[in-house]
Amino acid sequence: MVKLNKFPIGIFDSGVGGTSIWKEINALLPLENTIYLSDSKNAPYGDKSKHAIINLAIKNTEFLLKQNCKIIVVACNTATTNAIKVLRENYDVPFIGIEPAIKPAALQTKTNTIGILATEGTLNSELFEKTSSSINQKIIRKEIIGKGLVELIEKGKLYSDEMTKLLSSYIKPLIKADVDCLVLGCTHYPYLIPQIRKLVGDRMQIIDSGEAVAKQTKAILKKHQLINNTKENSTHQFYINKDRKVLQMLISNTNNKVEIIEESF
Ligand code: DGL
Repeated sequence: MVKLNKFPIGIFDSGVGGTSIWKEINALLPLENTIYLSDSKNAPYGDKSKHAIINLAIKNTEFLLKQNCKIIVVACNTATTNAIKVLRENYDVPFIGIEPAIKPAALQTKTNTIGILATEGTLNSELFEKTSSSINQKIIRKEIIGKGLVELIEKGKLYSDEMTKLLSSYIKPLIKADVDCLVLGCTHYPYLIPQIRKLVGDRMQIIDSGEAVAKQTKAILKKHQLINNTKENSTHQFYINKDRKVLQMLISNTNNKVEIIEESF
């Protein structure tokens, strides 16, 4: 029987943001080989219809399955909340998803007011609605659509004046509403933490789900006896269907040897 353990973990996102998840997975599971797919040509997913998001998620999944991925991490809140059910129904491989961490935020808030910064597609999804209704209903949820943020990050404009202006227009109402826990509901947004911190000082805890996703990936690999224990150096391939520059910049601080492949898919 073929040993699947050495086969890669497949990770996809609408663009470069899911590399924030790749970093967490790689830190927790350094022996695992990975293949990352950045569908930057089609970013942002957040203002597309559910139907379009499902079709893109299927395209990305099939690309990764062709490369023999043993598990697929949907490193995109928008794709998870709109498409993971369909993916799980149609493919045998285990899927790990990511959704805004509103449960931990609800447990930690002292002001009973949490902020959620996410895409329109995530905030309007049934899954987000379901998770929201499962938390203490006395907690006020301030939901903000981060319109335009993904586009700026995809262009590498992380520290631009445009970004500061846009971010501050989203963050100011949250400060006013006395939010003390801010949930980052998009895998692109952890790259904005220094800029957000500048705006909020220490009045808010910033919560993202990256570490939890890595832990869940490890748990599911263990459950299926798919952990790679070989001591060979791991390989990391990044496929992108647009210019590689921003992707390269975001993963430049990794110690791993990575290969970036520009390809149209
Ligand atoms: N990184 C994706 C997410 O987590 C961005 C979605 C988009 O492309 O709009 O939602």
